[in-house]
Amino acid sequence: MKSVVDILDLSVSEVDELLDTAMDIIENPAKYAEVCRGKKLATLFFEPSTRTRLSFEAAMYELGGNVIGFSSASSTSASKGESVADTAKVISCYADIIAMRHPKEGAPFVASKNASIPVINAGDGGHHHPTQTLADLLTIKREKGHFSGLTVGFCGDLKFGRTVHSLITALCRYENINFVMISPDELKLPGYVKNEIPQGRGFTYTETTDLEAVMPTLDILYMTRVQQERFTDIDEYLRLRDAYILNPEKLATAKKDMIILHPLPRVNEISVAVDADPRACYFKQVQNGKYMRMALILKLLNDVKCGKTEDKEQGDVYLYDFKCDNPRCITTTEQELRQVFRVVSPENRICRCVYCDTKKNY
Ligand code: CP
Repeated sequence: MKSVVDILDLSVSEVDELLDTAMDIIENPAKYAEVCRGKKLATLFFEPSTRTRLSFEAAMYELGGNVIGFSSASSTSASKGESVADTAKVISCYADIIAMRHPKEGAPFVASKNASIPVINAGDGGHHHPTQTLADLLTIKREKGHFSGLTVGFCGDLKFGRTVHSLITALCRYENINFVMISPDELKLPGYVKNEIPQGRGFTYTETTDLEAVMPTLDILYMTRVQQERFTDIDEYLRLRDAYILNPEKLATAKKDMIILHPLPRVNEISVAVDADPRACYFKQVQNGKYMRMALILKLLNDVKCGKTEDKEQGDVYLYDFKCDNPRCITTTEQELRQVFRVVSPENRICRCVYCDTKKNY
């Protein structure tokens, strides 16, 4: 059963196919209006969402299907202690496909291993958000026409910003991209994402705290919200939350065809006055998210119909003798979940938790 937990669960050619399908949906919506008739999407949202949940639901309705689900953990048997694994098994009895958001990193992966239907990760803690990445890619494709050769600035909370992590991972499969990371030192990109950026193939990587200094160089400015819900120290959040506020004055030196993206919701990091700027593309991103989710639902249900199964990683080595140190990892709450680490660098003796990607030396 093919699920999409990480953007890398889709090959480059599959992403290209999804982009083509989304473009076709935009041009010919009537052609897709009945293609999921009789199918049910379950939206399992253990954490708040506006765009992702409602765009998944709108996507399924526009494909002619139906939707069941919940929008908070408090109304479900998770509040009585039911595990993610059991929830996934139960929902497999009712629905054809699952979209899951969960605060614990790796929860959708656990669901995918226990469900008998495809699972789509709709955001797990500060880890991955692959369908936001699909929305981002469609927006870049529609606005810029290509991915290679761009200078992409990511600004704000690059530590907890899962949309940033997933988009960087996706862009690393193209060529000649200059990444410019703009954040306070406390919110820098985690090492496990930074290490994915190829050394070669025209990639460059710069870190700075100064947005205005790099503004004239950017083709894309991807703003992010400082994620209050991920901080354990509220004073640190209060100190960092206003680090970057984009306003029309700061855009004065930006390229005329730069595009401004933001996964939303925003708090105050983009002034409302910027919305009128033709370079502001964050509401187009919202619309594109629905089209890409339509394309993804359709693809995964078609894969089931055609009997396509998960692509298995060949030759990976796994270790079972370690405990994950990440307090946000699903292993900290899920009953009887075996700790599993995948060896990622035998020469440096580095392995990673298969659920949340936390690195360990062995
Ligand atoms: N971009 C995004 O994931 O928004 P929601 O949290 O509203 O779903």
